[in-house]
Amino acid sequence: MLYLIGLGLGNEQDITLRGLDAVKRCDVVYLEGYTSLLQCSVEELETLYGKKVIVSARGDVENKMDEIIDSAKEKDVALLIVGDPMSATTHISFLIEARKKGVEVKVVHNASILTAVGVVGLELYKYGKMTSIPFHAVAQGVTAPYDALFGNLECELHTLVLLDLDPVSNKFMTIPEALDVLLGIEEKVGKGIINLDTVVVGVARLGSDNPVVRVGTVKEVKEMDFGKSPFALIIPSKLHFVEEEVLEMWKC
Ligand SMILES: C[S@@+](CC[C@H](N)C(=O)[O-])C[C@H]1O[C@@H](n2cnc3c(N)ncnc32)[C@H](O)[C@@H]1O
Repeated sequence: MLYLIGLGLGNEQDITLRGLDAVKRCDVVYLEGYTSLLQCSVEELETLYGKKVIVSARGDVENKMDEIIDSAKEKDVALLIVGDPMSATTHISFLIEARKKGVEVKVVHNASILTAVGVVGLELYKYGKMTSIPFHAVAQGVTAPYDALFGNLECELHTLVLLDLDPVSNKFMTIPEALDVLLGIEEKVGKGIINLDTVVVGVARLGSDNPVVRVGTVKEVKEMDFGKSPFALIIPSKLHFVEEEVLEMWKC
C-alpha cells in the first residue's frame, strides 16, 4: 500500500490520528521536503513516529516516483506531504502511476494553505486563480503572477500568491521580495493594477502556534518583518463590508 499523508501546517502534532496510525504501520517513510515547511524538525517527526524519515530534495520525489511506487508493491510505504497532499502541490501523478502499476493508494487529507488562508477573513469563494512567484521570476521575465492578478481583479476576485521556497537549501522568498517582483512587472507591463498604495495582506506560518496576518499598503508591508517562512501574499479585490471590517482588525 502507498499512503499519501498530509502533515498539516504546524508541527509534528498536526498529523491526523489516521495519518499517524498509517505512518506507524509503514516500512518506509519519505518526506516530500521541498514544496513547503513545517515548524518542527525532521527529528521531531521521527521521534513521534518512531521511524526513520527519508527527506527528499527538490525534484527527488518525482525522480524516485517509480521506485517509491514499486516498493509499495511489497511493503507499506508513506509519502508525507506538508499541508494537504492534494492541495496546491498535487501529487496526482502518484495516483495515476500507482493505478497503472496496480498499487493501491490511500490519501490522508489535512489542513492546507488553501483553507488556512480563510483566517484572513476574505471569503474563500471570492478568490480567483491562485498564483505563485518563482525565484527566477525577474531573471526569466515571468509575468504569470501579474497576469493572474489582472484577470482576478477584472472579475472582482481576490488573489492568493504563493512564494517560492527551498527548505533543503534554506532559501525562502520574502513578502517584500514578492512585492518587488510584482511592482517590477507593473513597471514593464503598465496595466496599473498594483502600486505602493495598493492594500495587500501578508501572512506567515498560518496554522502554526505563531501565525502572522498583517494588512497595509504595499509601501507599509514592504517594511514589515514577518519572521520565519512560509509566507504568502493576498491581494484583495472589491471588499464586502464584513471583509473590510476584518481587514481593519488585522491593521491593528
Ligand atoms: C506549493 S504550496 C504547498 C501546499 C501544501 N501542500 C498545502 O496543502 O498547504 C507551498 C507554498 O504555500 C505557501 N504556504 C504554505 N504553508 C503556509 C503557511 N503555513 N503560511 C503561509 N504560507 C504558506 C507558501 O507560499 C509556500 O511556498
